[in-house]
Amino acid sequence: MPSRRRHSYTGGSSPATSSYSTTSTTLPDRSPAPSSTTTDRQAPNSLARWISGIFINCFTPPGSVSSKSFNDSEHDIRSRRSSTGSVQKHYYGNGNGNNGNETENQNQRFSFDEIYAATKNFSPSFRIGQGGFGTVYKVKLRDGSTVAVKRAKKSLHDDRQGAEFMSEIKTLAQVTHLSLVKYYGYLVHNDEKLLVVEYVPNGNLRDHLDCKDGKTLDMATRLDIATDVAHAITYLHMYTQPPIIHRDIKSSNILLTDNFRAKVADFGFARLAPDSESGATHVSTQVKGTAGYLDPEYLTTYQLTEKSDVYSFGVLLVELLTGRRPIELHREQKERITIRWAIKKFTSGDTISVLDPKLERNPSNNLALEKVLEMAFQCLAPHRGSRPSMKKCSEILWGIRKDYRELLNTSL
Ligand SMILES: Nc1ncnc2c1ncn2[C@@H]1O[C@H](COP(=O)(O)OP(=O)(O)OP(=O)(O)O)[C@@H](O)[C@H]1O
Ligand SMILES: [Mg+2]
Repeated sequence: MPSRRRHSYTGGSSPATSSYSTTSTTLPDRSPAPSSTTTDRQAPNSLARWISGIFINCFTPPGSVSSKSFNDSEHDIRSRRSSTGSVQKHYYGNGNGNNGNETENQNQRFSFDEIYAATKNFSPSFRIGQGGFGTVYKVKLRDGSTVAVKRAKKSLHDDRQGAEFMSEIKTLAQVTHLSLVKYYGYLVHNDEKLLVVEYVPNGNLRDHLDCKDGKTLDMATRLDIATDVAHAITYLHMYTQPPIIHRDIKSSNILLTDNFRAKVADFGFARLAPDSESGATHVSTQVKGTAGYLDPEYLTTYQLTEKSDVYSFGVLLVELLTGRRPIELHREQKERITIRWAIKKFTSGDTISVLDPKLERNPSNNLALEKVLEMAFQCLAPHRGSRPSMKKCSEILWGIRKDYRELLNTSL
């Protein structure tokens, strides 16, 4: 029996959703609104936009990175030029105190030549994905390890690599979490820019929701994924200094391991959050992100806070439960914006009808749907002050996951 419980949605008016396109886009740059409490940082250059997965986490890479050549302890990004002056290689120092005077082989885990050779000059057969800013390749290195290499579109190249950009990379590169894609380094060679990150073998969440491998993600797995993502974002917001706002939380940026654990990728849009000790409450910035996931308040005020990630996370939760993309233009008008449609169903007591038709209707799934949607809609509140923190979301999800498992066990 479908649930007929009635709910009230206290988040105010429906989330703004007017001028969307279906494609994953960076919205046109707009000038920041003036604000007295603004910490105004320069936007990262176009290289920064395609830089993704810039993280070191506590996950041990698959027998790949020798502690000698890739010691995480110092987190010291260095850039160097080859004798031809055409190559810049950025990587983690070995902690031995040398400062750019090592021979390249001492610290360098990968080189252009190696990546070119391994991909047969970026042959499409090694391609694993295509995004707005570049193409992603699966690369087997000489030491036997496999990495993902993101190759920037040439048109997006920008030679501006200022101190701020490097300091941002440096901060992001120190981030360490099991549910964040690990950053290995990047290479700049003439007009080529390559980012090298952990290879996550099981595709992205969107493809799994589309059942591209012919299998459906069950509710338990979806709850695990939501919890992993919540933990990763909580970590960025609360346990990095300064805090980091991801800015592009979406299903194609959630990569899955063979065990269906989630890793958040693509920090191309990541920004450092305002330092609360300075009294600043938000960063004024160009609006960037992906249509359908964008916080309406950020869209209208240009003020970025951690709560913009909370909003995108709310959209992601609705996507996880319904299986639908945030925007589905092929549907009739009232169902095109998935969160609006889901909120309407929820508030009219017809929650069960939004459950992904690929999932079984049973008491445990129905309960998880109700509970997660309730939280998702809090995340989608139009004003950031009404949204929960990511930490709160993590705690709630943890509880829902526990109750789900208990109910599942008792009904077996
Ligand atoms: N580290 C990785 N390991 C395995 N697959 C990856 C990795 N990074 C990206 N991919 C695959 O490549 C696809 C494209 O990634 P990319 O980040 O370029 O674009 P996107 O996230 O889909 O969209 P956008 O244009 O907004 O960046 C991903 O959806 C994923 O399937
Ligand atoms: Mg991506």
